[in-house]
Amino acid sequence: MSNKFSWVYPVVISLFFVSVPAKALREENENLPAQNQKNNPQDSPSFNDNEYCLRCHASKYFVLSDSINGQTQRQAMCDNFNIPKEKYYNSVHWTFSCTDCHSMEYKTFPHPLALRFETKLVCIDCHGGDENFAQYHFEEIETDYTKSIHAKISTHEFTCWKCHNPHSYVPLARRDSMTTDFVISSNQMCLSCHGNFENFQLLSDRELTGVIEKHDWLPNQSLHFKSVRCIECHSAQNNDILISHNILPKDSAISDCVKCHSSNSILMGTLYKFRTIERRKSYGFVNSAIIDNNSYVIGANRSRFMNITGILIIIITLMIIIIHTIFRINKSKK
Ligand code: HEC
Ligand code: HEC
Ligand code: HEC
Ligand code: HEC
Ligand code: HEC
Ligand code: HEC
Ligand code: HEC
Repeated sequence: MSNKFSWVYPVVISLFFVSVPAKALREENENLPAQNQKNNPQDSPSFNDNEYCLRCHASKYFVLSDSINGQTQRQAMCDNFNIPKEKYYNSVHWTFSCTDCHSMEYKTFPHPLALRFETKLVCIDCHGGDENFAQYHFEEIETDYTKSIHAKISTHEFTCWKCHNPHSYVPLARRDSMTTDFVISSNQMCLSCHGNFENFQLLSDRELTGVIEKHDWLPNQSLHFKSVRCIECHSAQNNDILISHNILPKDSAISDCVKCHSSNSILMGTLYKFRTIERRKSYGFVNSAIIDNNSYVIGANRSRFMNITGILIIIITLMIIIIHTIFRINKSKK
């Protein structure tokens, strides 16, 4: 090979180093679940069955008919009993027929009174001990939840379904792990009671205390509520599961700013956990998930990226010098 092209080697070699992180990044993105996945309702084997129920339950009104007098009347369908079709068919249980979870007797209308007291299956009844769902750790979540403040509300029934809407649930932390929508939707679960007295009073005789006033010690509260989930401050950390389910009494909630605003921010083990695990698998950067979220968490974003880039530049320079020297030596030997 003529000496004229000897500069090619260092360039090719340094390009190789630069391209490694880029490749890792691409592979990592391919491993992420599809965002906002959309299903075609007609693809559900239960589509036709469900249409029977949804002609009333996905509508703002239903038709009441009196077969004796032959009279019919339109009546309003209460919002709580309304099931938006689109959400249903994009939820994890979209292939289900309504009567997989509800009694077959709901086919009669007016629905028999006894059905109102039917006991419903909870997550663990179907998901417990099933290898296919091992990644979610249902058993550990169940144990964690049993310790939580909500599980101790004894007078009324509080189940997993109170936060996981049976007709629209998707595992948010896996699907939209790095968008503001993900944080807002997660918080919406809590606010459906803690920000809505109509729902709250179904479970408690207490006066609902205003969430906004109770958190007015947080500077720029609306930004915080868009950037962190309620559970970050309100649940005990649990490293065995992705999302801690042990909601603690209010006295144990986090109010210490440094817990998040520091280089070993708790957010790495909570909010950014899914992304952090995925990241570590690919290239072991620390706290890079925060940068990815377009957030600048004061104190938490140490410039690891710059450190790594610096090290890369040094390695590449060294390579160039070494390779150049080898060529020089080879040349002088000739
Ligand atoms: C003709 C309209 C109509 C059809 C068809 C219908 N429902 Fe209903 N459903 C209602 C109305 C109205 C209510 C609220 C008042 C009541 O409970 O009667 C209701 C209430 C319910 C409730 C709540 C009961 C409670 O109080 O907790 C469930 C669950 C339910 N329906 C399931 C179904 C299922 C499953 C199907 C299909 C197999 C179905 N419904 C078909 C009109 C209908
Ligand atoms: C994966 C199981 C599951 C499927 C599938 C399901 N439901 Fe439900 N549904 C439930 C549970 C659990 C509740 C009680 C929620 C609670 O306790 O807060 C419920 C409650 C309801 C209610 C009462 C409103 C409420 O929020 O309490 C209606 C009405 C209803 N379902 C209708 C339907 C219809 C219509 C379908 C089919 C399109 C359907 N459900 C499919 C589990 C299911
Ligand atoms: C009546 C049984 C039943 C109940 C109750 C139930 N599930 Fe499921 N769930 C299933 C089945 C079956 C599937 C697989 C559906 C499919 O592949 O189309 C599934 C799928 C899922 C998935 C998607 C898994 C994946 O990786 O694709 C999640 C997440 C999930 N369920 C969470 C829950 C949660 C949370 C609860 C309780 C709030 C719950 N389920 C209650 C039967 C159930
Ligand atoms: C007080 C509200 C609340 C209750 C009650 C609750 N969850 Fe959750 N759960 C959440 C929140 C918030 C998330 C995080 C948002 C997300 O990723 O879906 C979550 C996420 C999950 C996930 C997804 C975990 C993953 O690895 O992606 C599963 C599975 C789950 N919960 C199961 C359960 C089971 C089982 C119960 C009942 C024993 C339960 N949840 C009760 C709030 C609750
Ligand atoms: C279905 C309604 C409902 C949902 C959803 C819900 N909660 Fe609650 N929560 C309650 C009720 C009811 C109480 C108990 C109030 C009482 O003491 O009577 C409670 C209690 C609490 C407490 C304890 C307050 C105290 O006095 O110590 C905290 C903290 C809390 N919830 C946080 C959350 C968080 C965080 C979420 C979301 C992950 C959530 N809740 C979801 C209804 C709900
Ligand atoms: C930055 C941490 C943080 C975040 C985020 C946060 N909280 Fe709190 N929360 C606290 C602390 C600390 C208290 C205790 C305040 C007190 O005792 O006055 C509290 C109090 C509460 C209480 C008890 C109010 C009472 O006195 O009855 C509820 C309920 C609650 N929070 C719900 C929520 C919900 C819902 C969200 C999400 C929208 C949320 N919190 C987000 C830290 C937080
Ligand atoms: C649960 C974790 C958490 C706790 C606790 C927390 N913060 Fe934050 N804070 C965040 C995150 C995440 C952001 C980044 C918001 C963004 O830019 O997206 C933020 C942003 C901020 C900002 C920038 C707001 C702006 O206007 O740009 C300030 C100032 C701040 N926090 C102060 C505090 C103070 C003071 C406390 C204690 C009273 C506190 N934070 C507690 C997570 C937390």
